[in-house]
Amino acid sequence: MQIQTSKVIFMLNPAQLPDVVAELYNKSLDVLTSLRERAAAQRSGPKSLPRFSISTAADLVGRTSAAIREAEKEGRLPSNERTHSGRRIGYTLQQVNEMRAAFGTKPWRHPDDPVAVIAVQNFKGGVGKSTISVHLAQHLATKGYRVCLIDCDSQASSTSLFGYVPDLDLEESDTLYPFFREEEMSSLAYAVKATHWDGLYLIPSNLRLYAAEYELAARVSRGQPLLLDRLAQGIASISEAFDVVVLDPPPALGTISLSVMRAANALMIPTPPTVMDFASTTSFLAMLYETISTLNENGLPVALNWIKMVASRTDEQKSMQREILGLMRNLYGDSMLRSVLRDSAEIDNATARLMSVYELEQPVTSRETHNRALTHLNGVNNEIEIEIRKTWPSHAERLAKEGIL
Ligand SMILES: Nc1ncnc2c1ncn2[C@@H]1O[C@H](COP(=O)(O)OP(=O)(O)OP(=O)(O)O)[C@@H](O)[C@H]1O
Ligand SMILES: [Mg+2]
Repeated sequence: MQIQTSKVIFMLNPAQLPDVVAELYNKSLDVLTSLRERAAAQRSGPKSLPRFSISTAADLVGRTSAAIREAEKEGRLPSNERTHSGRRIGYTLQQVNEMRAAFGTKPWRHPDDPVAVIAVQNFKGGVGKSTISVHLAQHLATKGYRVCLIDCDSQASSTSLFGYVPDLDLEESDTLYPFFREEEMSSLAYAVKATHWDGLYLIPSNLRLYAAEYELAARVSRGQPLLLDRLAQGIASISEAFDVVVLDPPPALGTISLSVMRAANALMIPTPPTVMDFASTTSFLAMLYETISTLNENGLPVALNWIKMVASRTDEQKSMQREILGLMRNLYGDSMLRSVLRDSAEIDNATARLMSVYELEQPVTSRETHNRALTHLNGVNNEIEIEIRKTWPSHAERLAKEGIL
C-alpha cells in the first residue's frame, strides 16, 4: 500500500504564516524581557563585580599585602575606602589595575607580540561556547590583560550575559553588521563597548547579525570570497589596544564561522564527553579540515598557534562519560586541556541570573558547589592563559622562571 503524501488535511494558511510566527516571536520577547527584568531585580543595582580582599588583590597584582599597605601609606596609591566600623571594603578591579600600574606588574604583551585571537568553536549547539568565552574573557581581564570579546552569534548569549537585552537595547549599528556590509569602513572601533569589567570590552550582537550571515553568503558565492577576510581586517584595526580577542561564534558552518576561522590564530573546541557530542566533534574536525582547505584555496590562509580541546559540561559520576573522557585524553594528548569544565548547577544558576560565576557575590547553590565551579573554570582559564603567553616572545623569560618553558 502506498502512503498518499500529496493530501494535507491540516495546514497553516501560507498568507498568515508570517503573522503567526511574528506573534509567537512577540510573545517570546515579552516573556524574555520580564525574565531579564527579574534577573536584573535579583541584583542589587546595575551590573558590578565583587570586590577583592587585600590578600586576593596582592595575589592578582603580584606584590604582598604589606607592599600595598606601604604604598597606600606613602601616598603612591590612594588609600582603600573603609566602612563606618573601619573595615576595608575591598578593592575594585579598576583599583587592582591601578596598583599594577604603580608596581609595574601589568602582564600586557609587548607591541611586537601577536595579539591572541581565540575562537571558541564547535558547530554543535549548546556545548558551552558562550559560557567558556565569557568566563575566559572575564578571567583574563581580572588577570590584568586587555581583552575584547566579540559576540559573532546572532543569538547573542554572551551579549546577554553583559546585561543587554540584545534586540531592545542594541541597534544593528552596535554590532559587526555594518562592518561586514560596508566595504569602505576601515575600523571596527565604532562597535567596541566598555563593560563593567575594567579592561574588558565587548562587541555585542543581536538578531540583525543573522541577516549579515545571508548577505555575506550571497556576496561570497557571487565571487567575492575576500569578504571572508572582513572580520580579520576588523580585528586588525583594533588589535593594537588588546592583548587577547575572544570570538564567540554561532553553532553552524556559515560565512560568519568561516570568517571566524580566518580571523583566529588559536582555537578552543569545547566537547562534552558523550557519544553524540564526540560524534559531532569528529564531524566538526572534518568540516574544519575542509574549511581550512577552502580558505587556503581562496588565498585566505588559516594559521593557528594552538588548538585545544576542552571537555565541557562533564559529569564524571556517569561511567559512560568517564570512559569517553579517558578515550579523549588518550586520543588528543597534548591537544586537550588537562582541566575539565564540569557540569555545574552553579554555572546554570548564574546563567539564569544573566551573570557569570565570577560575578556572583554569594553562592547560588552551596559554598562547596560554588568553589568547585570556580576551581574548574580557573583550571581551564589558567591553562589557556599559559598557551597565550607561550606565543609572546616578551613573556619567554618569565615563563622560564615560572618553570613553564
Ligand atoms: N559547565 C556547565 N555546567 C552547567 N551548565 C552549563 C555548563 N556549560 C554551559 N552550561 C549551560 O548550558 C547552556 C548552553 O551553554 P552555552 O550557551 O554556553 O552553549 P553554546 O555552545 O554557546 O550554545 P550555542 O551553540 O547555542 O551558542 C546554558 O544554559 C549554560 O548555562
Ligand atoms: Mg553560544
